[in-house]
Amino acid sequence: MDSVLANQWLPVSFSKDLQKDPISAVVLGERVVVFRTAQGVKALKDLCIHRGAALSQGKMIGDEIMCPYHGWRYDGSGKCTAIPQQPASRQIPPKACAVPYGCTEARGLVWVNLNGDDPATLPPYIEYEDPDYKTFFCGPYQVHASMPRVVENFLDVGHLAFLHAGSLGDPAHSEITDYAVHKVDSRLVTDTISVFQPDPDGRGMAYLTDYVYEILKPSVVRFKKTGKHPSECYSMMLAVLPEGPVSSKAFICGSMNYNKHVTNEEFAERQSMIFNEDTSVLENQRPELLPLDLQEELHLPADRLSIAYRKMLKEMNVSIGTA
Ligand code: FES
Ligand code: CO
Repeated sequence: MDSVLANQWLPVSFSKDLQKDPISAVVLGERVVVFRTAQGVKALKDLCIHRGAALSQGKMIGDEIMCPYHGWRYDGSGKCTAIPQQPASRQIPPKACAVPYGCTEARGLVWVNLNGDDPATLPPYIEYEDPDYKTFFCGPYQVHASMPRVVENFLDVGHLAFLHAGSLGDPAHSEITDYAVHKVDSRLVTDTISVFQPDPDGRGMAYLTDYVYEILKPSVVRFKKTGKHPSECYSMMLAVLPEGPVSSKAFICGSMNYNKHVTNEEFAERQSMIFNEDTSVLENQRPELLPLDLQEELHLPADRLSIAYRKMLKEMNVSIGTA
């Protein structure tokens, strides 16, 4: 298990997708069950201590999750509260419990933290809290690629002109102007990078956009782009769940302070089309594990943000999906 990412908040579901039934997720190779209670969202190891059944296959009885196999029940802290096979007068063995994990709901997402639960360490997402913006949810997208490859793809400004020609870029405008990456608090932030886009936001209008990218966490990144009118701002956050070394789930939130008549379905349809283009490349990149040795692969000045990302992963000792 990646001991660095086990201390981080990782996305497991959009809030809107976690309703009455428990859901399962794979977090850094661990099977986790997530469910709603009156005290908020809760996460447990997806394993019943009795005979190892997956609790996520069970159902909620009030605020407790009931194992599908023999009906044992657990509360949000993992404590077993009912064993139907024994008389109610008999004590529940103290060993009867499920392992609890940190779990919280914020920015439209449900997050799990295997080793901690401090909400102060959640990645910021200002636009989500801002009433001037409408936020759209896209995915989650299952990608058979390492989390760092998926994140780096989002940070890669050079690919827009080719992989997303016609929407986010134009091969006739492929040159990337020089930019630097700055450390701001614990984030990595780029200078403004200008990109000519045939259709930056689904309105079908070409214009020159100004991007600022930010690395918030090893698996959470964002950009903010402006352009046509100075007041118009479009931001996007990508949060990736590393399920295993080469298996990821990508959650995308887009926020706009204009174009707000667009429905979530319309926004997500366009985003899925774009993300499918990325997925086809991501699933065929080799090596599958992102090389953190900068002597490997070939870097251009335009790849400064990717280089900064690889250095950060190396400094932090992130091991899942890296080599
Ligand atoms: Fe869960 Fe028996 S395996 S109650
Ligand atoms: Co892309």
